[in-house]
Amino acid sequence: MPSAGHLTSLRVPLAIRLANKQRAFHIVLSAASKVLLLTVVLCLTLPAGTALCQERAIPPGKLGETIALGREISLNTAQHPLSKPYKGNALNCSSCHLKNGTDLNNLPYAGVAAAYPAYSPREDAVVTLADRISYCFMRSMNGIQPPVDGAMVTAIAAYITWLSEGTAIKMNSVAALGPNSMKQINVNPDDVNLENGRKVYEGQCAACHGEHGEGVKEIQLPEASPGGSPPLWGNNSYNKGAGMYELQKAASFIKSSMPYAAANLSEKDAADAAAYINSKERPDFVLKRHLPKAAPRVKLSD
Ligand code: HEC
Ligand code: HEC
Repeated sequence: MPSAGHLTSLRVPLAIRLANKQRAFHIVLSAASKVLLLTVVLCLTLPAGTALCQERAIPPGKLGETIALGREISLNTAQHPLSKPYKGNALNCSSCHLKNGTDLNNLPYAGVAAAYPAYSPREDAVVTLADRISYCFMRSMNGIQPPVDGAMVTAIAAYITWLSEGTAIKMNSVAALGPNSMKQINVNPDDVNLENGRKVYEGQCAACHGEHGEGVKEIQLPEASPGGSPPLWGNNSYNKGAGMYELQKAASFIKSSMPYAAANLSEKDAADAAAYINSKERPDFVLKRHLPKAAPRVKLSD
């Protein structure tokens, strides 16, 4: 079974950088063993170029175990026994939340917990972090809403909260999004060119994601989550209710992060590739299909 094993062989820490106005944060993830393996070094690069780093280990005891469990589920969502019953495609959370939420360039978990409860315009409601995690199961993972007070969602919330430790609480009254959320590029939906999108896809994406967007299991990049290169459309991909189905979000993700580890597209090519991917077949989002079946009634005579 694929696991965090590929990370355990990392001897050289992995440094991820994000230029954040005048300063940059680095997160260095080093893994020593499979259990209680996580140490995060959070570095703040000062304007002078010197770095201020603070190493943080996961807390001891049950809390640390829960954080490590959440990290494993987020990395290996499609196969982990606790998340498998709730997912509906071949993706992991970390297929999009790259480097398991520690890549500050796209959809990081860092800081997210400091924004919740937050107002979600999509739900027209104030939602908790646990709710938000459950929506990614229903939409991005095309699955069933897991219990928001269950052990599985709690473990993922613990992992996200641990990565958010130290971030000042700043509730969000306009969007269910944390302080480091993806840098959005300008996209004009009337200006996208599907033919150019197809060319970009075939030239720069198909080698990893497959000729028909089906993903390629055999292409397992060393720092990527288990399961190979993930599908981009079809029944094993995100559904039409997912954030990634929105042109603006997919284009911004592709601009910042794809081709994997070598993002180099112009904003125009990223937008055209996003439109092309989202013009392909994928599951519709029908809310009631993603809600848990009602608990069976217990007969009084039983
Ligand atoms: C297909 C890509 C994809 C997958 C898979 C995915 N997500 Fe997301 N996730 C997104 C996008 C895109 C957003 C931002 C949506 C927006 O801008 O409204 C997001 C937002 C979130 C947020 C809110 C972030 C914030 O800044 O407030 C959380 C938490 C989250 N996802 C957790 C998860 C978890 C846990 C899983 C796995 C069960 C998961 N996601 C799977 C694409 C994905
Ligand atoms: C070198 C291989 C490679 C190339 C080339 C590549 N990707 Fe990816 N892509 C990946 C991997 C691997 C992931 C998942 C990372 C993980 O699981 O840690 C991913 C994730 C994604 C995702 C989010 C997950 C999903 O399945 O929806 C999108 C969208 C995406 N890529 C689009 C593109 C586009 C568009 C291009 C071309 C511009 C591209 N990729 C080029 C390897 C690649």
